Amino acid sequence: MIPGGHPCRYGHNAIHHSYVSCCLRRLVMADDPIRSEHIRRNDETLSRRGVMSSHRDHVMSHILNAGRNGGQRLCILGAGNCNDVDLETLARAFDQITLVDIDSIAIDRAVESLSPKERTSVTVIGNVDVAGIYDRLDGIGEPSSNISLVDLIELANSFTISLGEPFDVVCSTCLLTQLIDSVCMKIPESHPQFVELVLTVRNRHLRLIAELLAPNGFGLLITDFVSSRTAPELAVMTAEQLPVAAMKWIANRNFFTGVNPFLLRQRFQQSAELLRLAEFKYLSKPWKWDIGEKKFAVCVLTIRAHA
Ligand SMILES: C[S@@+](CC[C@H](N)C(=O)[O-])C[C@H]1O[C@@H](n2cnc3c(N)ncnc32)[C@H](O)[C@@H]1O
Repeated sequence: MIPGGHPCRYGHNAIHHSYVSCCLRRLVMADDPIRSEHIRRNDETLSRRGVMSSHRDHVMSHILNAGRNGGQRLCILGAGNCNDVDLETLARAFDQITLVDIDSIAIDRAVESLSPKERTSVTVIGNVDVAGIYDRLDGIGEPSSNISLVDLIELANSFTISLGEPFDVVCSTCLLTQLIDSVCMKIPESHPQFVELVLTVRNRHLRLIAELLAPNGFGLLITDFVSSRTAPELAVMTAEQLPVAAMKWIANRNFFTGVNPFLLRQRFQQSAELLRLAEFKYLSKPWKWDIGEKKFAVCVLTIRAHA
């Protein structure tokens, strides 16, 4: 039962869906700091759909291209506000769409924009941590924590998740940096096992994409790798200038920890656990993701599951 008719602190009335969202959000924020931070970020970027149109065009063209051979089932990992996709177009292109995120309210809200008929093809899997360690990360290092970093690394590596039938297209949308950032929220970079944990979370995510694929399915790892905070020139750069600039940033080690696109490609091309599942197809040119005050350079790595 939703309490009273008073507006919440954001001015939403009890009969308004957002009122429920606000109340739920406040409950979540109280007991789950990492998830709360992702919810806060989604709230902050919700209204920025307009400025993301060029990024959305890139994401959409890669998804539609991957689904062109009769892609029936699409899974989006880190769907959030769905600002980087056009759900209506996807609902026409795919028979079945599964949206996965730790922030269930953001995806529920995005799905509300669809017609009732389009909605029937969408499955929402919310409140899911696809890294499998957020609840353990939270108290790590505190005396009350009953898990060591060694155990956490083991958990991050062995964690499994079931999202139902395999998919013809799996797309991870700028989620990888958020998984790594969640580790950074709780473990100092100076910790001797920080890098091992980050790489384990990263490698598990690459494997997850491959594991979720049906035979011949396409996996798309769309990832941001540097922002205008450390590469301010990105803000004014044209699409033509980006590839050369990206090579320089990478050569100067100016990229987010764990997401050097060339090392991601190398991982897909050389790791036995990934090669068993899928073949690496290509690394795209970078493009710019404008989210308002910050810009990111983004690329996509595409894999194809074996027949
Ligand atoms: C940068 S946003 C991606 C943008 C999103 N596709 C959109 O258009 O709004 C990353 C998303 O990953 C979600 N996320 C972060 N950690 C997660 C986790 N462990 N499991 C599932 N989703 C997670 C966040 O809630 C957020 O929606």
